[in-house]
Amino acid sequence: MGLVQEVGELLRAELRGARRIEFKGSPTNLVTEMDARAEALIVDRLTAEFPDDAILAEERGARAGRSGRRWIVDPLDGTTNYAHGLPIYGVSIALEAAGRVLLGAVYDPSQRELFVAERGHGAFCNDARLAVSSTPTLNASLLATGFPYDIRVNVDNNLKEYAAFSVRARGVRRLGSAVLYLAWVAAGRFDGYWELRLGPWDVAGAGLMVEEAGGRLTAIDGGPVDLDAPTVIASNGRIHDEILSVLREIRRP
Ligand code: IPD
Ligand code: CA
Ligand code: CA
Repeated sequence: MGLVQEVGELLRAELRGARRIEFKGSPTNLVTEMDARAEALIVDRLTAEFPDDAILAEERGARAGRSGRRWIVDPLDGTTNYAHGLPIYGVSIALEAAGRVLLGAVYDPSQRELFVAERGHGAFCNDARLAVSSTPTLNASLLATGFPYDIRVNVDNNLKEYAAFSVRARGVRRLGSAVLYLAWVAAGRFDGYWELRLGPWDVAGAGLMVEEAGGRLTAIDGGPVDLDAPTVIASNGRIHDEILSVLREIRRP
């Protein structure tokens, strides 16, 4: 069993347990003892196997390396769901070299689905090759989005965008796990996904999956995703320009 699966199985086994919850700077940004346990397992294993590689992990932050390679880790994506016992969450590990993501692995413990992507070699779910949907229009699309943790205090909080897409698409889902949204765009379950503020660990691995499954991944202005401070549109490619033009219209100053 690979590392993402091993950690995901630990999370699944503990889902119903009592949680110790703390807050990271905002009353909606939770962290639990399981985020820390999962991250410790991953970081300790990566450190032992790849001592020269850098690691960027959500809870512990950055550790420098000297190999030019960097592991980017979200030990538990969907912490709010997890803290409430809602089984929609995942584990994500990505490998970057010379500033490019080369490998991504995401595990969804609830569905026992392992998503992997290697740049240039496709994306797979439990060994079946992934392909994005062929939905041709926004009108016929099922979308996903998420809201930033400063939603209560920042007016740029995605509510206007959410309203706009809700009346233009077939539906917009808000399920609480960015890495699963991206993996599910890659799998053709969602036609598109956007989010205004994410962390590198939310996008690195699962974003590669979208590209390797034939989809398109950009920042919300249509440019390349800045992994240091990502905004994201992920889609099947066909509806990407429609998503961009709705965002342009809604976010016009
Ligand atoms: C969050 C989830 C959520 C998304 C947030 C992320 P976390 O990650 O992916 O769906 O809307 O932007 O920060 O905090 O649960 O790892
Ligand atoms: Ca996350
Ligand atoms: Ca997390």
